[in-house]
Amino acid sequence: MLIQNKSIVLMILVAFSPITLASELGKTIVMQGNSSGAMACSICHGANGAGQAQAGFPNLAGLDPAYMQKQLQDFTTAQRHNPIMTPIATALSTDEMNAVSTYFAQQSTPTMKPTTADDSLLKAGQQLAQNGNWANDVPACFSCHGAQAKGVGMYFPALAGQHASYIEQQLNSWRSGQRSNDPNQLMVGIAQRLSETEIKAVSAYLANLTATNN
Ligand code: HEC
Ligand code: HEC
Repeated sequence: MLIQNKSIVLMILVAFSPITLASELGKTIVMQGNSSGAMACSICHGANGAGQAQAGFPNLAGLDPAYMQKQLQDFTTAQRHNPIMTPIATALSTDEMNAVSTYFAQQSTPTMKPTTADDSLLKAGQQLAQNGNWANDVPACFSCHGAQAKGVGMYFPALAGQHASYIEQQLNSWRSGQRSNDPNQLMVGIAQRLSETEIKAVSAYLANLTATNN
């Protein structure tokens, strides 16, 4: 009887440990939203975080959790104002931002390949991602985002396997000033120096790279 009681106590401890609670909280918000009015993330990003290419809803699966938490915080400021995400992020507490970011970081990266883009477009995109365009002061994307754009820590997000439509949209948001949350303005200048053709090419190329969980 004593042994049985001990194991019940242990089960309760495990079930309510801070880590279990945080991941349960993350899952609940992703599936159901919260009582402060945040919509369920799964409606747009999917329960597995894969997003929707056509709608421009980004993949979140496997992104660095601290990067995502920073983005959620930035959506509550003018630095990354977005009509869809700003009200949702504003309705999340810091603990909830942490919980949903942890949840999405743990989901497996999507394995679906985008519809193939034209070969010459992909080649031009590869050239820019690997070598940059120094005639126009554009450094290689891989120099910051890591080899094959797998991402580096919390500051340089993975771009491999991200939807092309979303990548294009972000580069255009930096050009227009709608997004200005990049540390030391590392992205603004680059986005402004890219031509529209280069944006299309590099987005298509990055979307075709294989994403990996770090
Ligand atoms: C109605 C659709 C919708 C819902 C619901 C939604 N999102 Fe989003 N999310 C978007 C869109 C659109 C963007 C891209 C915004 C932009 O262009 O800056 C985005 C972007 C993001 C980003 C930035 C990703 C990056 O790579 O920088 C994060 C993080 C995020 N959402 C988390 C969440 C979380 C967490 C929830 C649930 C609490 C949620 N979203 C609910 C549509 C949605
Ligand atoms: C000098 C470093 C640097 C280089 C080079 C660089 N980036 Fe970035 N990039 C960043 C940083 C830092 C961020 C994260 C900004 C933030 O915190 O919101 C970022 C974010 C992005 C995002 C947003 C991702 C998301 O999930 O929302 C896209 C898209 C992007 N970069 C595309 C590119 C492309 C395409 C190239 C090459 C043409 C490139 N970057 C080269 C530093 C760099």
